Amino acid sequence: MITHDRVSTGVGGLDTMLKGGFIQGRPYLIVGGPGSGKTIFGMQFLWDGLMKGENVLYVTLEEPFDELRQNMVPFGWDTGKIRILDLSPESRREEDLKNLDFMEEELRLELRNEQHKRVVFDSTTTVRLLEGHDIDGRRRILSLMRILKEAEATSLLICESIQGEIPMESFLARGVIRILTTNKSGEKLRAMQIEKMRGTDFDEHIRPMQITPKGIRIDPDEIAVDAFW
Ligand SMILES: Nc1ncnc2c1ncn2[C@@H]1O[C@H](COP(=O)(O)OP(=O)(O)O)[C@@H](O)[C@H]1O
Ligand SMILES: [Mg+2]
Repeated sequence: MITHDRVSTGVGGLDTMLKGGFIQGRPYLIVGGPGSGKTIFGMQFLWDGLMKGENVLYVTLEEPFDELRQNMVPFGWDTGKIRILDLSPESRREEDLKNLDFMEEELRLELRNEQHKRVVFDSTTTVRLLEGHDIDGRRRILSLMRILKEAEATSLLICESIQGEIPMESFLARGVIRILTTNKSGEKLRAMQIEKMRGTDFDEHIRPMQITPKGIRIDPDEIAVDAFW
């Protein structure tokens, strides 16, 4: 039997659901609605690597990195040591956005210069919006995923998606984790579900998720409230 090297997700309880964590060197998809906790998840995953002495990279197409860093302070994550690659449209001139080849070029260059063990790409949704046509978006995301795979980085691609929708990225990634949200008595509740995971057995149940002062935590022994089903 082939055994794979595992990489901790950094999220308490999720490694249990994954029977040990992500498989090293593969790209995964984190899917969820706005404000569900995708960016926090990404940062938590990188912080875990940083604490283990790894080189880690955050590719942002969404928030400017000073805001990103500020948002992580309440969790006690001094993200100053996390390398950030800014590919956001705001950091580019309008005419440079007509051709997105720069994304691949800059990512490839970064990964050639530094051996990043973990990479977070936030988000594929922005890539798709910038490309316009579905087919171009798909091709671009596939190509970015290939670069991450070739660099042997364990990577998380973040994707904004409303509940019930299966984004096309799901078909490309080796695994998909979804963050679910619902409202109960005026309170926002979160849960996590592994939708797909190649090469490992995993827990298919919807488990409750919480954002605590130490970051995201999953309770792998609890079943999420039925409002999620
Ligand atoms: N320090 C914190 N403690 C608890 N919850 C927080 C904290 N910071 C942010 N959140 C929650 O996380 C949400 C934002 O998470 P984020 O990862 O940025 O979402 P996404 O990237 O999925 O849009 C906020 O709407 C808020 O509910
Ligand atoms: Mg985000």
